[in-house]
Amino acid sequence: MVLRGKAEKKVFQSKQSTPRGATIITVANQKGGVGKTTTVMNLGVALVKKGKRVLLVDGDPQSNLTSYLGVTPGEPPFESLQTLDEVYLSKRPIDARARHLYITPTQSGVDLIASDKALSGVEYYLFTHSDREVILSRFFETIRDDYDFIILDTPPSLNLLTMNSLCASQYVLIPVQTEFFSLEGIVKIREAIEDVRSRWNSDIAILGVLPTQFSNRRKLTQEVIEALKRELGSQLFDAVIHDNAAIAESSGHAQSVLEYDRSSRGAQDYVLAAEEVLNRCERGANA
Ligand SMILES: Nc1ncnc2c1ncn2[C@@H]1O[C@H](COP(=O)(O)OP(=O)(O)OP(=O)(O)O)[C@@H](O)[C@H]1O
Ligand SMILES: [Mg+2]
Repeated sequence: MVLRGKAEKKVFQSKQSTPRGATIITVANQKGGVGKTTTVMNLGVALVKKGKRVLLVDGDPQSNLTSYLGVTPGEPPFESLQTLDEVYLSKRPIDARARHLYITPTQSGVDLIASDKALSGVEYYLFTHSDREVILSRFFETIRDDYDFIILDTPPSLNLLTMNSLCASQYVLIPVQTEFFSLEGIVKIREAIEDVRSRWNSDIAILGVLPTQFSNRRKLTQEVIEALKRELGSQLFDAVIHDNAAIAESSGHAQSVLEYDRSSRGAQDYVLAAEEVLNRCERGANA
């Protein structure tokens, strides 16, 4: 597996520009079920518990993040909540007076831009529009100062929805399951990030690769971590998210694992991951 090369150096270049307003992070991996939504939710809540103002954006038509937060657009008390597809269709920066239509507070302490299955129709619509990759980035212009972090969930695909998220972001966090094929997935997403970097968003960098669903019991997972470490060096998070029943259960209770069982291994892991995210953002992605 050749991971090192010209493209990699560019992608991993440290950030030079001064961030304005919120740090925007896309959580992406085109592989399904690797823990993207779980990471957005629990990282977001862990950052709130550290006093940060956090907006989560559900960029996936499966709308798992929206459900995880106990939000059902169209049903009380969310009857008038607009969803992310409407952001795409309006194609404008949000009007300050209208932001409450798009952004809802949640019981977990994070704010949310919700999605529903209508988002799946947006991709087709985007194909017919110029500037289709940068709609989301324009939308964030007027709300960026209200938050310390904006974290975006993405679908298991490198489609136009994911590309919009990448174009709007300073950083990409890549959750990977600890299995050997995870390296191949990282190669593909790096190519997509490099594409975004060279065409639309020269600021984007990889914040790091976060191993998820890690099991101490399996020798294989330890071997995979070592292989990832060899390939990625400091890009691999020190934090690891263990396979933990409380994490899986928390989504069924519409609570983050930090609220569901704050003494669980899963909650502790996400607190450590949040601390590392703060450190990495402070140092720049290449540190
Ligand atoms: N560390 C963990 N321990 C136990 N279960 C986990 C863990 N992380 C995620 N899960 C469970 O694995 C499943 C997939 O996780 P998640 O939905 O976060 O993945 P995803 O990458 O967002 O999936 P998709 O690509 O379909 O959007 C969920 O049922 C979730 O509760
Ligand atoms: Mg998901």
